[in-house]
Amino acid sequence: MIEVLRSPSDFKAWRQKQKGQVGFVPTMGALHSGHEELIKRARSENDVVVLSIFVNPTQFDDAADFEKYPATWEQDLEMAKANNVDAILYPRYPEMYPDNYRYKVTEKEYSNLLDGAHRPGHFDGVLSVVMKLFNIVAPQKAYFGEKDFQQMTLIKGMVESFFMPIEVVPVATVRESDGLAKSSRNMRLTPTEREQAPLIYKTITTAKTAEDAAKSLSAAGFKVDYVTDIGNRRYVAAHLGAVRLIDNVQI
Ligand code: PAF
Repeated sequence: MIEVLRSPSDFKAWRQKQKGQVGFVPTMGALHSGHEELIKRARSENDVVVLSIFVNPTQFDDAADFEKYPATWEQDLEMAKANNVDAILYPRYPEMYPDNYRYKVTEKEYSNLLDGAHRPGHFDGVLSVVMKLFNIVAPQKAYFGEKDFQQMTLIKGMVESFFMPIEVVPVATVRESDGLAKSSRNMRLTPTEREQAPLIYKTITTAKTAEDAAKSLSAAGFKVDYVTDIGNRRYVAAHLGAVRLIDNVQI
């Protein structure tokens, strides 16, 4: 039977009774097959699998985006059950933030690039909530999608910097058959936008330079935040109507 635990203290009481290795998949809900891939990987590598669902307000720089973030609890629960998740941590804000966010985790360099340059405070919110979740769940392994490559890299860096005994496991981006990276935000695209959205992946994989890719996407009607090459990876963030999409590929 799956356990649904709504407070850190209830979760910790349950956690103390668990034996063996714990694999953890942190999410904000609205689960799709990208999340399912993380859960399956965690299931295959651990004795106990924990999923968290918490739409973390401190990582939203845009209040409207937070308000509109999809909530699909019944479907999420079904997916968790179908994949033999042992427990869901499903906390509320006051219990996750007893300090009302007076304390935070900040990285001062890499988090100012790419998404950080366009979403002030976003990575402070992500790192702070992941630190809290790691301290509550105490997993041996934690699974993150490569779609959010910058996020995954920053979390890895936090774990190393604070000597946290957790292995961060990156999992390859799951795509629709037309190349669009799976994302909870895809649900908010209109049918026309959904048809246009795969251009992001197509363009960043085929354009010679990041500048070329940015120009083509702008010409196709996207509002481009950035297309940037760092090392052997190309990163993109672009708005289509009211929805902001991100992706990255190896180049
Ligand atoms: O990637 C996400 O869904 C979120 O940023 C995370 C890691 C669950 C933190 O809120």
